[in-house]
Amino acid sequence: TTTYHILVLPGDHVGPEVVTEALKVLDVVEECRPSLHFEREFALAGGCSINAHGVPITPAVLDQAASSDAVLFGSVGGPEWAGSHPNPESGLLSLRQRLDAFANIRPCEVLVPSLVGASPIKSELVAGTKFVVVRENCGGAYFGEKVEEEDRASDLWVYRAEEVERCARVSAAIARIIGRDGRGGGGPAVVWSSDKANVLASGRLWRRVTQRVFDKEFPDIELRHQLADSMAMLMVKDPTMFNGVIHTDNTFGDILSDISGGITGTLGILPSASISGIPGSGRCNGIYEPVHGSAPDISGKGVVNPVAQILSLAMMLRYSFLLTEEASAIENAVTRVLDEKGNGGLEIRTKDLGGTASTADVGNAICTAVRSILSK
Ligand code: NAD
Ligand code: IPM
Ligand code: MN
Repeated sequence: TTTYHILVLPGDHVGPEVVTEALKVLDVVEECRPSLHFEREFALAGGCSINAHGVPITPAVLDQAASSDAVLFGSVGGPEWAGSHPNPESGLLSLRQRLDAFANIRPCEVLVPSLVGASPIKSELVAGTKFVVVRENCGGAYFGEKVEEEDRASDLWVYRAEEVERCARVSAAIARIIGRDGRGGGGPAVVWSSDKANVLASGRLWRRVTQRVFDKEFPDIELRHQLADSMAMLMVKDPTMFNGVIHTDNTFGDILSDISGGITGTLGILPSASISGIPGSGRCNGIYEPVHGSAPDISGKGVVNPVAQILSLAMMLRYSFLLTEEASAIENAVTRVLDEKGNGGLEIRTKDLGGTASTADVGNAICTAVRSILSK
């Protein structure tokens, strides 16, 4: 038996609701694969930790995360902690920093053809969209020196060459994994580096260092540069234009990956992995969290879409545990459930995707599909 140690941090509002469904899916993987054991420990992060301990994450929980094999993270924050210092969100930032989870991988895909209808963008434009945002996750304006006074505040947006270099290596690795055809074939995918080199000194460093890394280490990968503002516009106007990898800094990556949710029509299906190594170079610790937040506007009603959290779990199996077959099984189960053709005419979708199913309905259907895929 191989035992994997997972720290589970459900967080606030919809966080616990979607994490519950992901853990059910993990139970099914364990049931179908008796040689795998997923040991889970639970702890507090975010507003719930502020309520219990006065801080959004305790040093003990940070230590626990660092000694785990991976962290399954829900989402944190909510109106009840408005004005709290430090706030719930800073707990997540401390965790990313502590694990040195420097690469945040955020795939965006219209998962099944019929989901084009969930997008506000014309179907013929959105069909076939498949790109992966690789967001630098431990530097930039998020982690530079901060000054916060009553009438003046600043965030130092600083990058060192090494930080850009290691993120570029992850972007290159993802370009090889997804391939030009989006399924691993046709040679490496195009990498679009996004910055504001026309305005920001850190943006000029980003562009220069990225170009240097690709020239030296990945001459076979096509690298293009696009200013972040026009990229945001083009992602909406012509989403398939960026099929491939979007390599970008912390702030732009945060914004561009929520544009992904505008493209798919919901944040509810977008997973993410914040990892501390280069994909393909062995196991590494990571934080597996949806792109979306704690959605206080819909929490507590059993209607939140659990797919983003469940696909984040699949990313954990893939990137931290190298369990590619089990990861694919979960991903295929999700598409089967979302595709009405896969369920004998029954579509099992939450409200954000135009359906009427509950959070648990979707989670249970995915469990059934995983069981049937893995027991073949
Ligand atoms: P949000 O992502 O929580 O919600 C934006 C909109 O998308 C809301 O209308 C919400 O109902 C909807 N939505 C989000 N996830 C959904 C899902 N799985 N299924 C169906 N609908 C979904 O963004 P927000 O409202 O700006 O932020 C709420 C709180 O979450 C804030 O405190 C913010 O700081 C925090 N946040 C936390 C994380 C995290 O913990 N990783 C990420 C982003 C935001
Ligand atoms: C995200 C969130 C976080 C971020 C917040 C909650 C700290 O928006 O994961 O996208 O800005 O990185
Ligand atoms: Mn965000």
